[in-house]
Amino acid sequence: MSTLYLDSRVNDDERRRRLYAGHLFVFSPRPSTTALCDFARELIEEAFHPLDPQHAQDHLPVERFVEIVAPLKPRFIHHPRTKELLLDLLRDLGSDMEKTYFDVPRMRVATSGGYLNAGVAYVLHPHRDIWYSSPLCQLNWWLPVYDFESESAFSFHLRYWDQPVRNSSGQYNHYEWNRVGRKSSAMQVKTDTRVQPKPLDELELEPEIRVVCPPGGLILFSGAHLHSTVPNTSGRSRFSIDFRTAHLDELATLGGAPNLDRECTGTTLFELRRASDLAPVPEEVIRLYDPNPPEDREGLVFKPPAEVAAVPAAK
Ligand SMILES: [Fe+2]
Repeated sequence: MSTLYLDSRVNDDERRRRLYAGHLFVFSPRPSTTALCDFARELIEEAFHPLDPQHAQDHLPVERFVEIVAPLKPRFIHHPRTKELLLDLLRDLGSDMEKTYFDVPRMRVATSGGYLNAGVAYVLHPHRDIWYSSPLCQLNWWLPVYDFESESAFSFHLRYWDQPVRNSSGQYNHYEWNRVGRKSSAMQVKTDTRVQPKPLDELELEPEIRVVCPPGGLILFSGAHLHSTVPNTSGRSRFSIDFRTAHLDELATLGGAPNLDRECTGTTLFELRRASDLAPVPEEVIRLYDPNPPEDREGLVFKPPAEVAAVPAAK
């Protein structure tokens, strides 16, 4: 049984406890969430100008679409304003900034009708984020930038919250993924060749729950939930933002959601930063997740390319 809590006022400790038990939290748009989505929209509309970004796919060859989205994503991800707005949001939602670690937010594009299903617009098959070397206490924060429909949402496959799924996460090493995978995503136009952890058996995807909320609404869920992108048949591209957090209390005790079926190696913890001062996760905590972390961390932290950091924000 999962409960969907709408605009819940429980504190962060209780909220995390419920999230690790598989419950979902949804928040209506509020100034802090709307500000982050508005900033994303500003960058998206500037990049697609003069086209309407949600319908640009009807007017552009797919290669041109990729050319626009490929630099747009890192520009948003690494923009200093994005980080400020994300931290405002965490504070507003009651996170303990001294104990909450966050990753840079991603921008996702889900085009309609199979226009682009690889690389920068990869359609995600059913997966748990924890199959990608995230800690069991990872929480996912997801926000739509524009209105969207059930036909362009993502699904939770609730049956598998407490049922293991045979999967290929044993093949996934996060360090390898960072070295090879991300660099090539802009080049993946027609098909995606990156090795992703996947279910190995046919799944019963029903019952599935899709949550549709207005732009600036927020869906908060455990990274252990099995979820997937709905193949978008809404007739327009869906733009969304998501980011991940982890709380030190659970990080330091290997706490969080139950581990039913993950076998991946490596850890994403190098990418997280403390909300209060951007400090990295303490080394002794990282070693709980990987007793022999690589000496060379260069490729593990997702760094902004110099030219992206240098581009000023459009007003
Ligand atoms: Fe995911």
